[in-house]
Amino acid sequence: MISYNSDMTKFTVSPIGYVKSPYKEQSGTPIQPSFGEPVEAEIRVSSEFREGLVDLDLFDRIWLISWLDRSRPYKLKVIPYRDTKERGLFACRAPSRPNPIGISSVRLLSVDVKKGILRVSGIDLLDRTPILDIKPYSPKFDSFPDEPAGWLDESIDQETADNRFGSED
Ligand SMILES: C[S@@+](CC[C@H](N)C(=O)[O-])C[C@H]1O[C@@H](n2cnc3c(N)ncnc32)[C@H](O)[C@@H]1O
Repeated sequence: MISYNSDMTKFTVSPIGYVKSPYKEQSGTPIQPSFGEPVEAEIRVSSEFREGLVDLDLFDRIWLISWLDRSRPYKLKVIPYRDTKERGLFACRAPSRPNPIGISSVRLLSVDVKKGILRVSGIDLLDRTPILDIKPYSPKFDSFPDEPAGWLDESIDQETADNRFGSED
């Protein structure tokens, strides 16, 4: 599924599925899943990967690893949605990145293994966003609520995106 060039510095990945989401453009889309409740979306998983969905319904939340395919070319300094001053790109969750990979922890509502359909809520991804991987969310592995979070601890209160990382008008 992954193909590498001869010295493994470049590789090609293929989506395992796509998002079916009510959001069609960046502007107005929640900037993180937690701001997107209770809006629902679906993840449509390709037939060849559906067997791997078995037991996923045991989890309340999952990670969606996505390819943010409609991002503008990246800059290494950006003004993030929740700040008014420039920050280093890797200290931000901006969608425009050298490899525009998104990580979204969403609530899992149902799993249809046969049809390859996951119903989720709290999506921050645009319709037709390619999904590279799905992993179970575990509070034991993934949650550190008492740790400080840099500039985000004093961030402004923006919950939806504008078009600053979207297609040029
Ligand atoms: C700030 S990013 C965060 C994504 C992910 N939760 C993360 O932290 O990696 C979420 C924003 O990316 C934008 N977005 C969502 N899907 C996208 C896509 N397929 N291509 C480009 N931008 C997208 C939307 O504007 C959304 O509000």
